[in-house]
Amino acid sequence: MASFCAIAAATHCIPHTSSFCSKKSPFPKKKVTCKAKNDDHRPEITSKNSENSPGTLDRRDVLLGLGGLYSTSLATNPMALAKPALPDFKDCVDATQPNDTPINCCPPVAAKIEDYVPSTTTVRTRMAAQSVTVDSDYYRKYSAAIQKMKNLSPADPRNFRQQANVHCAYCDGGYTQKGNSKLLYEIHNSWLFFPWHRWYVYFFEKICQNLIDDDTFVLPFWNWDAPGGMQIPPMYNSVVTSPLYDCLRNPDHLPPSVINLDWSNGDVTVDPEVQMKHNLAIMYTQMITQSKTPTDFFGNPYRAGDNITTLDGAGQIEQTPHNHVHAWTGTIVDTSNPIDMGALYSAARDPIFFAHHANVDRLWTIWLNQLKGNNFTDPDWLNAYFIFYNEKAKPVRVRIQDCLDTTKLGYTYEDVPILWLDASTKPQPRAKAKTLPSAPDPAQVFPTTLDKPINVIVQRPKKSGSGSSEEILVIEGIEYDKGNYVKFNVYINEDDVNASHPDNTEYLGSFSNLPHGHRMSYKTNKRFRISEVLEELGARDYDRVLVTLVPKSVNPVKINGVKIVFDS
Ligand code: C2O
Repeated sequence: MASFCAIAAATHCIPHTSSFCSKKSPFPKKKVTCKAKNDDHRPEITSKNSENSPGTLDRRDVLLGLGGLYSTSLATNPMALAKPALPDFKDCVDATQPNDTPINCCPPVAAKIEDYVPSTTTVRTRMAAQSVTVDSDYYRKYSAAIQKMKNLSPADPRNFRQQANVHCAYCDGGYTQKGNSKLLYEIHNSWLFFPWHRWYVYFFEKICQNLIDDDTFVLPFWNWDAPGGMQIPPMYNSVVTSPLYDCLRNPDHLPPSVINLDWSNGDVTVDPEVQMKHNLAIMYTQMITQSKTPTDFFGNPYRAGDNITTLDGAGQIEQTPHNHVHAWTGTIVDTSNPIDMGALYSAARDPIFFAHHANVDRLWTIWLNQLKGNNFTDPDWLNAYFIFYNEKAKPVRVRIQDCLDTTKLGYTYEDVPILWLDASTKPQPRAKAKTLPSAPDPAQVFPTTLDKPINVIVQRPKKSGSGSSEEILVIEGIEYDKGNYVKFNVYINEDDVNASHPDNTEYLGSFSNLPHGHRMSYKTNKRFRISEVLEELGARDYDRVLVTLVPKSVNPVKINGVKIVFDS
């Protein structure tokens, strides 16, 4: 397997820091000893003081009200008395790269961790990155800030590599769960994804402001959901000496290459106009058709005691487009060795990471404001906290409940046209009439390893009584090694998957995993909303539908079943 540094040397790639290719970590291994006595200074939101909608009662209250059922429920549901999943910041250990090499991503020792609640009256506008030219004042400020970050002592928590390591520690096994030292803590694949990254980008921006002594500075967003932003923005690709440049990006994807928001490793490039059309359709599908509820959009609950490797997992946006922007941008040297944007431990070493995540963060504001989505009101989400080093190099504890309004954090997003909000970008049926091939029942096929396309005919459930009639296609028990890049595509009532694209209704979407450290088996489910899709395909009255799974990565994925259920 070629090492990163061999690749770097072969491509005359200038490493991020001089210590990049040395064998030894530039940071001494540290054990963080936290002296803060009480980890929960701020009053917790309970179901009584949160604005819970009737559907989101705190399970603790529900169970207490159930009296005698309480212990039974507890026996069958050990998470019934759950609390927020929290990181144990006291004991940071080595994280792991996807190739199993340990990597020390731990921050410096923290003596005292203070609660932090943002207070600001000034709101700045984060601008679309594609509008910035390299001869602008903005570019000069931005690159000066990143250069200063890179120049800070490696031991300074605001140092650029230390900042990248924050992401690595939080997602590659640096922390366990507070109170559950046997369980890994992780900020991807659950409802923590959006708020954690919001806070992370927030402090990164504060550090930039502080280093250039300019609190008017805000980060740009990589507007990859608009045609004008569907390339690596010019300022990140100017000259190799620019602090915003990263040599470990996929050389085939430099401008003018147009991003593919549902990219699979190995996809061939299509005509730029066609790719842009596909991308808008992907945005429509993910933000509108598939994101109807907070769980669809943000991801599934993750509470104290939950094992992240067996949860229902990521929300729609985290999977697509978020994962694919990473995989498309980063270098995948071979499928087991992705670097910088392509793997979570190294993703934030590329300055473009923060513009990518500013756009993911912007989608949250669009989902709330334009699409009238709602935040969770569940106390286990609102009370969850994270720890970051702020611009003064001091560790602070921040809660999800305090990051829900970006104007209170001092920023908003430039109001750029959002083409995918328009119904004209909605995927259309590829072919109205087609003869569907016969295929076996799921029970005859699963469990199986997905190493070739699989067709199954799936029975639709029969409606009885009240409750939702919204049908969900569930790909059940998807098992894979989380160190691997994994992707497969899912189609419904499609007789020719090669002719089907993301702007076709038959193309439901994909499942993907970005390589994380700590080889361990994940087992999760993937859900697709299909009622509207079947309606559009003229299949409303069908008893059964054809489902096709097409592997898009070589790493093994096992599937345990496919079924259709009513939304619960
Ligand atoms: Cu924490 Cu885009 O990943």
